[in-house]
Amino acid sequence: MITAERDLGTKPVGGEPTVAIEVDGREITVPEGTSVLRAAALAGIDVPKLCATDRLDAFGSCRVCLVEIEGRTGTPASCTTPVEAGMLVSTATDHLARLRRGVMELYLSDHRRDCVVGHGNGECEIHDLAALVGARGDRYGDGGETHLDLTADESNPYFTFDPTACIVCSRCVRACDEIQGTIALTIQGRGFDSLVVASADDKFMDSECVSCGACVQVCPTDALVEKAVLELGEPDRSVLTTCAYCGVGCSFRAELRGDEVVRMVPTKDGGANAGHSCVKGRFAWGYANHADRVLTPLLRERTTDPWQEASWEEAIRRTAERFLSIQERFGVDAIGGITSSRCTNEEIFAVQKMIRTAFRNNNVDTCARVCHSPTGFGLKQTFGASVGTQDFRSVEHADVILLIGANPTDAHPVFASRMKRRLRQGAQLIVVDPRRIDLVRSPHVEAAFHLPLLPGTNVALVNSLAYVVVTEGLVDERFVADRCDPGEYARWRDFISSSEHSPEANEQYTGVPAADVRAAARLYAGAANAAIYYGLGVTEHSQGSTMVMGMANLAMATGNIGRDGVGVNPLRGQNNVQGSCDMGSFPHELSGYRHVSDDATRALFDARWGTTVDPEPGLRIPNMFSAAIGGEFKGLFVQGEDLAQSDPNIDHVVAALSAMECVVVQDLFLNETAKYAHVFLPGTSFLEKDGTFTNAERRINRVRPVTAARTGKQEWEVVCELATAMGHPMRYANAAEIMDEVAVLTPTFAGVSFAKLDEVGSVQWPCNDAAPLGTPIMHIGEFVRGKGLFVETPFVPTDERATRRYPLLLTTGRTLSQYNVGSQTRRTRNVEWYREDVLDVHPADAEERGIRDGDRVSLRSRVGETTLHARLSDRIPQGVVYTTFHYPVTGANVVTTEHSDWATNCPEYKVTAVEVAPVHAPAGNGHDETSRHAGRDPNADLVRMANQIADQFPLHGPDAAAEAVAHHLRMFWEPHMRAHLLALVDTGSEGLDPVVVDAASRLRATVGS
Ligand code: SF4
Ligand code: SF4
Ligand code: SF4
Ligand code: FES
Repeated sequence: MITAERDLGTKPVGGEPTVAIEVDGREITVPEGTSVLRAAALAGIDVPKLCATDRLDAFGSCRVCLVEIEGRTGTPASCTTPVEAGMLVSTATDHLARLRRGVMELYLSDHRRDCVVGHGNGECEIHDLAALVGARGDRYGDGGETHLDLTADESNPYFTFDPTACIVCSRCVRACDEIQGTIALTIQGRGFDSLVVASADDKFMDSECVSCGACVQVCPTDALVEKAVLELGEPDRSVLTTCAYCGVGCSFRAELRGDEVVRMVPTKDGGANAGHSCVKGRFAWGYANHADRVLTPLLRERTTDPWQEASWEEAIRRTAERFLSIQERFGVDAIGGITSSRCTNEEIFAVQKMIRTAFRNNNVDTCARVCHSPTGFGLKQTFGASVGTQDFRSVEHADVILLIGANPTDAHPVFASRMKRRLRQGAQLIVVDPRRIDLVRSPHVEAAFHLPLLPGTNVALVNSLAYVVVTEGLVDERFVADRCDPGEYARWRDFISSSEHSPEANEQYTGVPAADVRAAARLYAGAANAAIYYGLGVTEHSQGSTMVMGMANLAMATGNIGRDGVGVNPLRGQNNVQGSCDMGSFPHELSGYRHVSDDATRALFDARWGTTVDPEPGLRIPNMFSAAIGGEFKGLFVQGEDLAQSDPNIDHVVAALSAMECVVVQDLFLNETAKYAHVFLPGTSFLEKDGTFTNAERRINRVRPVTAARTGKQEWEVVCELATAMGHPMRYANAAEIMDEVAVLTPTFAGVSFAKLDEVGSVQWPCNDAAPLGTPIMHIGEFVRGKGLFVETPFVPTDERATRRYPLLLTTGRTLSQYNVGSQTRRTRNVEWYREDVLDVHPADAEERGIRDGDRVSLRSRVGETTLHARLSDRIPQGVVYTTFHYPVTGANVVTTEHSDWATNCPEYKVTAVEVAPVHAPAGNGHDETSRHAGRDPNADLVRMANQIADQFPLHGPDAAAEAVAHHLRMFWEPHMRAHLLALVDTGSEGLDPVVVDAASRLRATVGS
């Protein structure tokens, strides 16, 4: 059955003081400011209502919720009347019944009589209410003027607007304003002529509507209704689950008719979304039943052979044999695997466990490597925990929001709506982004500052903000003295107050006027509560980790940590990026971010798993690729990630995959990576999974099976069978048992279980004896690491610079309707909004190159070339071009380079020097430097990576720098890579930084070669 949520009519108000009233003889005590309508509902009395809903502010237009209040004249609307102490309210007198009947008969006279569609309760609210109050539909006859001849707007692929069923209650208009914040709808005209219109009386598809579905959800009639409901009929049962797209982690009620999903409805008590949704979670789930789904395992000897279907038993046996054979011939370390941030915690935990036990190495990495690994590194160094500090609700208390390298209205839409609400209430916004994103100026929202820095200069900018804070006396001295490491603070203060970090000095790099930087710094530092939110525009840089630490420094210096409305908050890309990191997917860390070199931690896992976990870090993704090209790495298990489309420098990735003997892909579709695979293991969609996702605010949400697994197996079952076939038995009765094991092995998850989540909805980790219901805000009173650590953050410009040959900088991002490499959204009607990746080019750059809007252009970097259509846009500064990467045919990552974050190897997707030209003309000067190449010199790669680390520690003399580099190599580099580096040092390889050479000798002294 449908577990519809009860609508209490108006929003809740705060706790104290309370007021006691009597409704129809029933006493009820409610917080002051509560409406009479809500108080009555809480007393179990449902006063009829139409324009009111507890999702929106009270409006008082329909006159259905009338009540009588002793001592007052008239019949006030209960939705707009606040309770007063001692009120005696009557809701069901004969007089009220007559009035309501009259109102309802008027509505019915101009309302379609054949509404069939319910809104979670099985009935159109109008007809339901009419029956309740005994109203007749023909009271005013059939001859009067009506709106029943208006035609429906069917333009939106997912919902219809039928004005003949509209009662002009304005709920939709208010939902678009108050919940979504797009303000796409208005009531046009007055009196009888009043009509709901989108934008300037456009079709919904041509309007500003972003198809979030909020208006559809609140509409009390079937004027706005999902087309799927009209096609499939009313749902008759529901299952609570979680959206599988982005890191917001919205909770939904999947509503089914029989075994068929009819619609996804966001739930009010969803901890992350509080009843809101975006077009992807609400409507774009049809890919789960797309004809392209592969439901049977596939095998082939060579990637040039056609696929052959196989039974699960055969596929698992043959895969195990191939992996074991590789290990026998090339050694234990010749295989590894990659976990997916699209999968559940339980599925991820199973894969990393299979690698550490059955594969007997730590060659596990995750697709989070290519997005938020710098977040984990930077926040762990400074605060002691690799996670964002707040819950989403916290933004409602922020006075100043510093938004850096994130575009929430496209990438995290439901959180963006929450942020916009706060901005409309008066919070101030600073946007740091090369692009003029929507939040810089949109209806009722205008950023106080937009700092359009050049790609690759984040660290220079954050250092300048901190410089202003320190040199203008804006430091929260008390917070710093109480909460932070004093020695490191003093050191950082000396570092940052050097004039080289001043906004004036850094203007040459960032391109941002120094006066704006100074003013923005003062605004941030002067706020009662200032919060930093950031995205991949921070992390996907050669100094991604440095930038994360720079933001942490800024937050600590201004005392903006450890309470509501503040913090440093990563907006995670995929649904379970946080979880994939938490579950021990990195080659140097077991679950809960504990280093593999820690004996006590390993002992715990060894005892539980009956194995011996390797104390040395394994290979990271880029190092797996380099090792594959070098002939040492031969087998890879890829869980739900399309490496050949989403990773940088695709030619290099393809060369690596092609060099392997056994590539196993576990996914829904035969994606680009599967072209290079030997085994395809069909995966399950989120509608079939049983487990948990952890969102950007550390919230662990349940994902429940809405339909049976179409492949016949859960993904974790397949992984357990593969591990077992390789000689390490892995067995669980269900997914709950996997989470139980996570809880036993991971102190921050000790209090998490499916039973707890089913009982309380969701929890934010840490969740344990100290915090049985989880931890919404981190670092209250004390940092996880004890004292907050200020870290010096020298700005080291990326090696990827604009040159005469490649004079433009390419940066990348997402659009609202599509998702990452698009394998899901491209298989839904979301394509109607976005059918191809386009290249935004500034009009001045376009003119210089003879490019017109819509021209097909070549986009060329020194590693590759692709073509796509140009769109002229002044949203980007001159000298910068921008595109998305949702379509494989574009292959935007063909042009992105090998540069990566010095600490984590997160690729530098956000900065690529390129040239653009109409396709009929040669790009640049036509020299051959741009030829695509399938692989690079592994020695040169290693030298570059090591030198890059040395660049980050130039401050305290060569001795300290060498020690810091040696420590980094010891903690994060796999022994094979360290040995490779030592060998290069021994042979006097050219180009090595002397600090690296020194570090190598220190390394040799401690861990040997
Ligand atoms: S479309 Fe629905 S919500 Fe909007 S005014 Fe009409 S009946 Fe009310
Ligand atoms: S779907 Fe969302 S954006 Fe579009 S009109 Fe409705 S509330 Fe507004
Ligand atoms: S905001 Fe993210 S989690 Fe929420 S519905 Fe949209 S895609 Fe799903
Ligand atoms: S519900 Fe109160 S006036 Fe409409």
